[in-house]
Amino acid sequence: MTQDELKKAVARAALAYLVDGEIVGVGTGSTANCFIDELARIQHRIRGAVASSEASRQRLEGHGIPVFDLDKVDAIPVYVDGADEINAALQMIKGGGGALTREKIVAAVAAKFVCIADGSKLVAVLGQFPLPVEVIPMALGHVRRQLAAIGGGTPVLREGFVTDNGNLIVDVKGLSITDATALEARINQIVGVVSNGLFAQRPADVCLLATANGVQTLTAD
Ligand code: A5P
Repeated sequence: MTQDELKKAVARAALAYLVDGEIVGVGTGSTANCFIDELARIQHRIRGAVASSEASRQRLEGHGIPVFDLDKVDAIPVYVDGADEINAALQMIKGGGGALTREKIVAAVAAKFVCIADGSKLVAVLGQFPLPVEVIPMALGHVRRQLAAIGGGTPVLREGFVTDNGNLIVDVKGLSITDATALEARINQIVGVVSNGLFAQRPADVCLLATANGVQTLTAD
């Protein structure tokens, strides 16, 4: 199977987690796009969606799926999103597409986080994928210096990229993350950081992993 076919397979498998008549939280990225396309086929089953990015909002609306603002919604039973890396504890690095902050907000509201990924995303140690950090523009120099001082990685500005929130992304390259929860909290404490792409305090509840042998269901160790 191609990587695209794997993404489609895992997106289809996530439909089993939807709660009929309710809102579904929708992530961002190429795997989430496959999920949106699957949602379009069964949209009569759901009330609508909350999107984690403007790109996902547009794709959902393009299919005629109602998109609600998060603050107009009381509950999100399930949030479905991809990941750049995921470990056996279902902690993730996300934000390769730059939507990490809104993804983190929707994930925080959701009762259940279903991560959909192809097998290449499963890693023993997080950090080979650069860790995205969303930064208020005026704080860029300060945040870069503070990230460098943490050690172990090289902060690099994502050139020419602005988030949906009007901020910048710094990607920290070359990390080997042994305590993701501690690092997530530490980076969040840097003044000027909006959020970072570690999803460790709020990991996924389930990971649907597409492999050549089918879709595997992982839960945390
Ligand atoms: C978007 O900001 C990211 O968090 C994506 O969820 C993540 O990058 C996975 O994207 P792909 O499904 O395109 O690999």
